Amino acid sequence: MKYYQALTCSILLSLSTGMAVGQPLPALPEAATQFIDSLIQAMTIEEKTGQLTLFTSDIDVTGPTMRENYKEDILSGKVGAIFNAYGAAYTRDLQRMAVEETRLGIPLLFGYDVIHGHRTIFPIPLGETASWDLEAIEKAARIAAVEASSEGLHWTFAPMVDVARDPRWGRIAEGAGEDTYLGTKVAVARVKGFQGNDLRAENTVLACTKHFAAYGAAQAGRDYNTVDISEMVLRETYLPPFEATVEAGVATFMTSFNELFGVPATGSEFLLTDILKEEWNFQGFVVTDYTSINEMIPHGVAADEKEAGALAINAGVDMDMQGAVFYNHLPALVKEGKVSEATVDEAVRRVLEAKYRLGLFEDPYRYSNEQREQDSVMTEAHWAVARDVARKSIVLLKNDNNVLPLEKSGTVAVIGPLADNQKELIGSWSAAGDWKTSTSLLEGIRQQVGQQAKVVYAKGANINDDSTQLFQEAVEVANSADVIVLALGEEALMSGEAASRSDINLPGVQLALAQELQKTGKPMVVVLMNGRPLTINWLDDNVPAILETWFLGQQAGHAIADVLFGDYNPSGKLPVTFPRNVGQVPIYYNHKNTGRPFDQENKYTTKYLDVANEPLYPFGYGLSYTTFAYSDLTLSSQTLQANDSLQVSVTVRNTGEVAGHEVVQLYVRDLVGSITRPVKELKGFQKIGLNPGASQTVTFTIKPEDLAFYHSDLSFKPEAGQFKVFVGGNSEEVQEIDFTLAL
Ligand code: NOJ
Repeated sequence: MKYYQALTCSILLSLSTGMAVGQPLPALPEAATQFIDSLIQAMTIEEKTGQLTLFTSDIDVTGPTMRENYKEDILSGKVGAIFNAYGAAYTRDLQRMAVEETRLGIPLLFGYDVIHGHRTIFPIPLGETASWDLEAIEKAARIAAVEASSEGLHWTFAPMVDVARDPRWGRIAEGAGEDTYLGTKVAVARVKGFQGNDLRAENTVLACTKHFAAYGAAQAGRDYNTVDISEMVLRETYLPPFEATVEAGVATFMTSFNELFGVPATGSEFLLTDILKEEWNFQGFVVTDYTSINEMIPHGVAADEKEAGALAINAGVDMDMQGAVFYNHLPALVKEGKVSEATVDEAVRRVLEAKYRLGLFEDPYRYSNEQREQDSVMTEAHWAVARDVARKSIVLLKNDNNVLPLEKSGTVAVIGPLADNQKELIGSWSAAGDWKTSTSLLEGIRQQVGQQAKVVYAKGANINDDSTQLFQEAVEVANSADVIVLALGEEALMSGEAASRSDINLPGVQLALAQELQKTGKPMVVVLMNGRPLTINWLDDNVPAILETWFLGQQAGHAIADVLFGDYNPSGKLPVTFPRNVGQVPIYYNHKNTGRPFDQENKYTTKYLDVANEPLYPFGYGLSYTTFAYSDLTLSSQTLQANDSLQVSVTVRNTGEVAGHEVVQLYVRDLVGSITRPVKELKGFQKIGLNPGASQTVTFTIKPEDLAFYHSDLSFKPEAGQFKVFVGGNSEEVQEIDFTLAL
């Protein structure tokens, strides 16, 4: 019997981690703490270093592979966690080595990038956010956890909560878009979905909030680039989703690749210790993003790996992902007194606690269950949810003359490089997802219309080359049809990590293809598939109907067909602004007013000479097959007093012919502050369903703390004065009313 087994058999079974959904990680019971302390006391410095080391297996990698001998490392106790290893049998085998063949038998932790589904792939996170449906988002994360955990995984490197306001940055696809409030809600929903309310349950996994911090503010939208923002902006815009996940009990955090205030995040004591571990009292552990310890050398803050390793662990890093810096240097650093053993022990304690919380000391094999793997991966029920989440994520950008929904009759020409394509649909970071199981748009349409309509197809062009050879055939196919459905967009890997673009137009000759097809005079519906906002002015000016479908995952073809033929009424709203051209970037709805706000008549106001200030489509925007009218915006009082609340009510009526869902959005503006405030800030939203002719009164509550902001001394508090409240179906078309905050 291994050391820890002898020590703990009697106490472990009776302990509960006492976790509650959406609550901060609770302290472990006293007996567990004693157990972990005595385990640490029994460990050599090499064994401790092992617990702080995460290496990839040979299954899949997302960067340079630095190690081939990870199995020997497991056997010698030099590695305590493995990523990119999944499958019940494979993880059981590796776990057996750690538990049965090492001196202390401490179980391994298995991590993986389960970003938007494990085997059943859901929409990319940006797309899923467009649903504004927190229940659906939580459910998708729950299913991802069920599938991942049944394949032996304990830990997902998600959610990615980086606020991103630059569509050139490819990783905008992985987050919740441009808004802090929406991003915070989505981040919490994802943590709840992954972790459930009991980390010891065999179908929950540790979540990992990443990338800490401000990675989304990379200059010029170029991945890994320098970040240079003020602490006020950091705290107001970028940190709230991170902090909210700590409050919701997230078990781990990942550092980011960028520097902030001249210090790489992985070496930032300010971020990792002062803010995360002390100010927010985070009880979990911090892992680096990949080789970001090593990368502190080219950043220019460490001369060599050893120095970088000391910087990282002393700043608050607990686990080194793949860089082998702790592995190679930590024992020597301790010996030389550059890192105290107490610092190492504290990091080890955090890692062992996570293993404890998962119940791994009780049963290290509990997640590697082949029967459960067979029963709970890619089930019909999971696919049904994936289809539902996917159709909820679609945003109808334009629908002149109600071209949509289409009739299931006549001839439908399905054209475009993404029409008969399965591969791109699952998007970037689709983990263990198998694109061959995804349904293409062409197949989805064929199944949807059955015998009722004829479906013809032409590819028309490739996604990203300059050949127009296929145009002629596409025009002929279009001419033979009553309507054209044209699927255009990006390859999946044009967004995600290391996938920034300086030009966010449709790649290749796709726009020219659309222009050729438009000459046929047939009604045309463009279905966009992309991981970021694209600049699509010509389409907006010339094509009657446009659907934004992101990369919707395995069920994409079915979900889009559901919307095209009216079996589902689109209800998504943009979580990010669509610019008119890349020169408008960064463009986001909650900008400041400036001292010279836009005035068309006055040259000396803030504007461009060659493009409007307004975006093509604003944040929060999206149409439906029905229409909604807003009326009777009222306040429970003209004045909001300290320690009180204000109710904002509005009546929303479905004025169209079909049932639909509307995302009712509430924004505020603080008119005069000691610090300038944005022209609008999202402070609430509710997604409601209404039958034709029906109406509902929607009520929001505003409290003084919802109006707080950061001051020059970094205090966070509201200021008395005049406010505006705006309510509407997007950030531009709103009704407004005033109130006073009296403190
Ligand atoms: C690098 C990425 O930035 C991060 O998000 C991911 O979790 C790790 N690689 C592991 O694959």
